[in-house]
Formats: sequence, structure tokens, C-alpha cells
Amino acid sequence: MQLTITKSELLKPKPDNSKLGFGTIFTDHMFNMDYNPDNGWYNPRIEPYTPILMDPATTVLHYGQAVFEGLKAYKTDSGAVRLFRPKDNFKRLNRSCRMLCIPEFDENFVFDAMKQLIVLEKDWIPGAPETSLYIRPTVIATDNFLGVCASHTYRFFIILSPVGAYYAEGFNPVKIWVTKNHVRAVRGGIGEAKAAGNYAASLYAGEEAHKNGYTQVLWLDGVHQKYIEEVGSMNIFFVIDDELVTPMLNGSILPGITRDSVIIMAKKWDIKVSERLISIDDLIDAHDSEKLQEVFGSGTAAVISPVGEMKYGDRVINIGGGKVGPVAKRLYQAITDIQYGRAEDTMGWIEEV
Ligand code: COI
Repeated sequence: MQLTITKSELLKPKPDNSKLGFGTIFTDHMFNMDYNPDNGWYNPRIEPYTPILMDPATTVLHYGQAVFEGLKAYKTDSGAVRLFRPKDNFKRLNRSCRMLCIPEFDENFVFDAMKQLIVLEKDWIPGAPETSLYIRPTVIATDNFLGVCASHTYRFFIILSPVGAYYAEGFNPVKIWVTKNHVRAVRGGIGEAKAAGNYAASLYAGEEAHKNGYTQVLWLDGVHQKYIEEVGSMNIFFVIDDELVTPMLNGSILPGITRDSVIIMAKKWDIKVSERLISIDDLIDAHDSEKLQEVFGSGTAAVISPVGEMKYGDRVINIGGGKVGPVAKRLYQAITDIQYGRAEDTMGWIEEV
């Protein structure tokens, strides 16, 4: 396959890097590639960023056959551009594809095409502290057919967005609502895929959380509504009695790349790490017996995001006096230092563009 590159004649103005939010601004170009059963994946191309024209009967619009990824390009002080564990994102995307009956793609080819797109858009990578270029690879089903079955045709696209912090709170603690009324996913479903539908399933409870003054929802398992799963935009960690605890991957939790990095780093620092079932009752007990030291989330968009308050039914749990705990602080520093080239990458996690 040969990648073609068509440059835009009209370049957009770049945003003020000191005022970036998340996911509202897009660069001048995008990557596109199509699939049909005769050609397999074909016509890979970088071209001007344009809307996708769709028939109203397009499968993805009706049945949500869509998967995506999120990764970031970071600019170092010397102007180099770094990616953090990017191949893991493409591996996970192919895994999500398999789970939604979408044909797999050549990870190395797409990785290379993405790098060329980033090179073309390098002036869009913001340089202000803690900003980056968010990369969103996405695959959607494009048949025009209302029958419920896997599409025969697909579009793979990658768009880029200069971003700041995901949460308005930045690195300050966020407030999390533990929902009793809704579930995000069940084992045997597609909870561990990065599928669009999982995010659609999270919206109603998200609105409920917002109305009550909370930033995000913490999901409990779909069967017993007892065991802690994830936050939806991030995985969740607890420091209980000096042990770092996170729900084990059980089929309905997204296997986060930042989650994995946190576990590896903490073990390297000789922090005791436990991936296990943890119930909301265990967590409340830990809080009541003053053993709950820290709560934080991890994700590409959220990085490390401290949690200062959780609400479950009538119980409000305050964590760490609303301050950022030492483990979250250390992890945030260590991970962002590697990403921004302030520290040596001893783990082989960085790919330079
Ligand atoms: C990410 O962390 O990249 C995500 O995809 C989470 C959210 C923005 C959907």
C-alpha cells in the first residue's frame, strides 16, 4: 500500500497555547483509509481535514459499530516530538476491532502513516506546560444498510487536536459520583473494547453526576453492583494502608495503557500493588478506619487525576483533605517527565517522531 499526501491550500490559525481545553480544535489534515471485502484496507491517504459525507442509512449511525483510541504527541524543551507507548494503542485498537467484527489493519503501516501526519502537523503541537497534541484514531462502519449485521465496508481515520487538561480542575482533585442506578458494561459484553457504545452508555449517569455537582461517574460491576470497575474516562487506583489497589481486568474494564504504566512504575518503586476485586463497601470501610490514603484515576486524556471526594448514596467520602496525595503526585511527575523528555526513558516507552 502506498500512502498519498495531499496538502491543504488553506491553513487554519493556530490557537493560543495557554488557553487550550480538550478536544475542540482540530488541525489542517487527517489520515483516511477505506475497507471493502475486495480490496481489504485500501487508499491510505493524508488529506485536508474535511467532514465525512454519509448516507443517512450508514451502519455506524444506527448500530454504533465504531472503535477508537486516544494517544498524545508531546513536545520536549529541545523541540523533539515524543509518543508514549503508541504501539500499545494500535494493538488495543485491533483488539477492539476484533470484538466488534471489524477487519483488522496493519498496525505498523498505520503507525507509520500517523507519524507522517504528525510530522506534517508538527507546528500544531503546543509547547505550553502540560499541553500536547491529542491523536484520535477511529474506525467506523460505512455500509448503507439497516439490517443488524457487521458492515462490509469501513473507514479508518485519524484526527489531531491540540489539548490542555481534560478536566477543568487540571491536576486539582476531582469529585466522583458512584452510581447506584446505572451500569456501564457487563462481562461478556464489549466493556473492555474502546467502543463508541461504551461511552454512549455512560452519558445518562454522567448527566446525573453533573447535576449533583460531580465531575465523573465511578462504575460498579454490572451484575452485583458492588465491585468497583472504572471511571469511564480513566481507570481507578486507591492507596489503602500503603498498598496500591486497582480493580483487576475482568472483561468489562478498559485495559488502560496509563493504568499499566502506573502498575509497572509503582512496582519498580517497591510499592505493594494489588490488582483485585474491591467492593465499594471495602472502600468505605477503609475510609472509615482511616486506611484510605489516596484515590486517583489514570488515562491518556486524564494522565493522573487525583480524586478528592466520592459520593455513594448518602455517604460522602472525603479523601486526603482535598489535597493531592504523594503517590499520585510522584506518578504524575514521573510519567509526564518521561512523556515530555524531562527524564530518561528507561522503560522503552517512548517513540520519537
Ligand atoms: C483517553 O484517555 O484518551 C480517552 O479516550 C478517554 C476519553 C477522552 C474518551
